Amino acid sequence: MNYAIKLSLFAFVSDTIARSVTVQNNCSFTIWPAMYTETGAAPSYATGWEAPPDTQVTFDAPTGWRGRIWGRRDCDFSTSTGACIDGGCDGGLECSGPGSAPATLAEFALDSDEQDYVDVSVVDGFNLPLEITDSANCGTPSCPVDLNTNCPEPLQGPFDSSGAPIGCMSACEAKISGDPSNSPDCCTGNYSTPATCPPSGVQYFSYFKGNCPNALAYVYDEGSTALWVCASKPEYTVTFCPAS
Ligand SMILES: *[C@@H]1O[C@H](CO)[C@@H](O)[C@H](O)[C@H]1NC(C)=O
Ligand SMILES: *[C@@H]1O[C@H](CO)[C@@H](O)[C@H](O)[C@H]1NC(C)=O
Repeated sequence: MNYAIKLSLFAFVSDTIARSVTVQNNCSFTIWPAMYTETGAAPSYATGWEAPPDTQVTFDAPTGWRGRIWGRRDCDFSTSTGACIDGGCDGGLECSGPGSAPATLAEFALDSDEQDYVDVSVVDGFNLPLEITDSANCGTPSCPVDLNTNCPEPLQGPFDSSGAPIGCMSACEAKISGDPSNSPDCCTGNYSTPATCPPSGVQYFSYFKGNCPNALAYVYDEGSTALWVCASKPEYTVTFCPAS
């Protein structure tokens, strides 16, 4: 479709349009994407599904939706207590809650008719490369590289059946500086404000932000390369294992 025509169509229907969201698995292995709604009406789709390589699904997310999409790895739902090695959630194939860390998150806040806030977060660690693109070219929040490969040893895990790390925890989650309720890695306790929790105090911040400059790399990482804004009500595509 011609871009100008597309823009005018969006202008015409913008008061009621939901955002189309496509979730694409470009990984060479099966993953189990999952979705969690924090507030607002939920998208019209399952909260978890199996995604073989080179497959995609598309659904609508309504204005007002705040939620996240992530990928689960190495799942087995053949028993009633089905589980995943990382990213797993309560509820089985379909999630009834958020996933467990470490997991790379695609986060959406389609707050109003004015603008959307979008980010790729590694605040809760990393498990899969991920990027979000959109039909209006608002920007590309991403962590497109595999941070498991060179994950610093104290942050590695969980591990797959061959012993390779398929997750890379945040310093907070790995509890490498002790009490997580009073930690400069977690921005908690005496370190709970942006002033008392600078990125320089967060161990391994530069591993995450240096490799994924367009991701949200710790709680107060709120610059223009962390939180992205889009006023165009575009179509979004979340791609796991994008070409990097
Ligand atoms: C903050 O630091 C003070 C002084 O070191 C300490 O006594 C207090 O327990 C700390 N606060 C928390 C929430 O741990
Ligand atoms: C995902 O794979 C499809 C099909 O190979 C390709 O057209 C698309 O560009 C890929 N997307 C990304 C973000 O790498």
